[in-house]
Amino acid sequence: MVFRMSGIVKRFGGLVALDRVDFSVAKGEVMALVGDNGAGKSTLIKTMSGAHVPDEGTIEMEGKLVHFRSPQEAWASGIATIYQELALAGKMTVVDNIFLGREIKKPVLGVPFLDRQAMRKRTSELLSQLDVHVPSIDSWVESMSGGQRQGVAIARALNMDARLIIMDEPTAALAVAEVRKVLEFIKNLRAQGKSVVLISHNIQDVFEVSDRISVMRHGRCIAVRETAKTTPQEIIGLITGAHEVRAAAS
Ligand SMILES: Nc1ncnc2c1ncn2[C@@H]1O[C@H](COP(=O)(O)OP(=O)(O)O)[C@@H](O)[C@H]1O
Ligand SMILES: [Mg+2]
Repeated sequence: MVFRMSGIVKRFGGLVALDRVDFSVAKGEVMALVGDNGAGKSTLIKTMSGAHVPDEGTIEMEGKLVHFRSPQEAWASGIATIYQELALAGKMTVVDNIFLGREIKKPVLGVPFLDRQAMRKRTSELLSQLDVHVPSIDSWVESMSGGQRQGVAIARALNMDARLIIMDEPTAALAVAEVRKVLEFIKNLRAQGKSVVLISHNIQDVFEVSDRISVMRHGRCIAVRETAKTTPQEIIGLITGAHEVRAAAS
């Protein structure tokens, strides 16, 4: 497993948001994370990405125990999180967003200058690897569609050498054609050997792209299924607790 969490507990005052959660992702795997509102999905990924520090449990990335105290530390370990509200700068170009904070510099007469040519070349390579099409790498990100922005955000993560990419509802606000694009980006990431955690309310999307599905309910991870060996009915039953109702009635 490229990433593994064991026995994770996260409390907010008296509320147990994560109750002894075990969660793992293999290399080149798309793991879907599903559950009703309030189940603990966002809290779990915030714990994976260094935004929350767990109260109990262990986290391993690529076989090493890690103790993230900030998102920067998680990024440095190769874990990138792409939130719904993308952390892109609208009034900046595609190239500038992809290299924000890690510009390529070359010395000219001993003075470091931005190597625009190298950054442009790398940007074009990343976008073509992912099959992201933008009007121009010099266009402002705010002029682009939701799907194109997702593509730029993923390219940025790859440029920072992310091996695990976490996406929280990446298709929620997108038109149908754009959703298709983002699902293709996810498949491209897997084809490149990257691991993806996908939070989605859309069961159809989950079945189209995931290899496994983790179901959360009331702060617990109650089931993990191989996508090829389950059905949307079973997953929806697990999300809503229909199985608990049946068990209680029988
Ligand atoms: N920062 C916080 N402070 C207090 N309670 C929180 C905080 N974040 C989440 N919670 C609570 O933890 C539970 C899980 O929330 P969340 O992880 O956002 O669920 P999901 O993403 O599955 O909808 C909810 O009861 C929520 O109200
Ligand atoms: Mg959430």
